[in-house]
Amino acid sequence: MKDKDLMRLALAARRMSYAPYSDYQVGAALLGEDESVTLGCNVENASYGATCCAERTAVFKAVSEGKKRFTAIAITGGSGERLNMAYPCGVCRQVLREFSEPSEMRVLVGTSVDDFEAYTLEELLPKSFGPDFKG
Ligand code: THU
Repeated sequence: MKDKDLMRLALAARRMSYAPYSDYQVGAALLGEDESVTLGCNVENASYGATCCAERTAVFKAVSEGKKRFTAIAITGGSGERLNMAYPCGVCRQVLREFSEPSEMRVLVGTSVDDFEAYTLEELLPKSFGPDFKG
């Protein structure tokens, strides 16, 4: 799948965002090792701490459907029509780490199919703790 196509899907996922409290809508499109794509959006709650980020929504959906290895995620966020670079929060970086190889997992962050930055998860979460860590 091309980066632009994954970003396009993240933009589509963002339309499902439920963010009445922050008014900051986020969408994510998660690419599996098997080339499947799972979408996610942020889902907020009147009890703010119960909110789930778009990235984790996508990961938890995918894992619950039997997918356990991912190679890329596209993320887009912003308030209304004003999008900005919605870098994933620390908790989401750690959750992505659980199900990917940090040096190979690609994280695309952007505002449109023509405006995005690409990182590896290792760049965003260096020296990480993961399931393979044995001390
Ligand atoms: N949010 C995400 O969906 N992903 C992130 O990585 C950072 C923050 C959401 C959570 C909340 O609904 C809104 O953005 C404002 O923090």
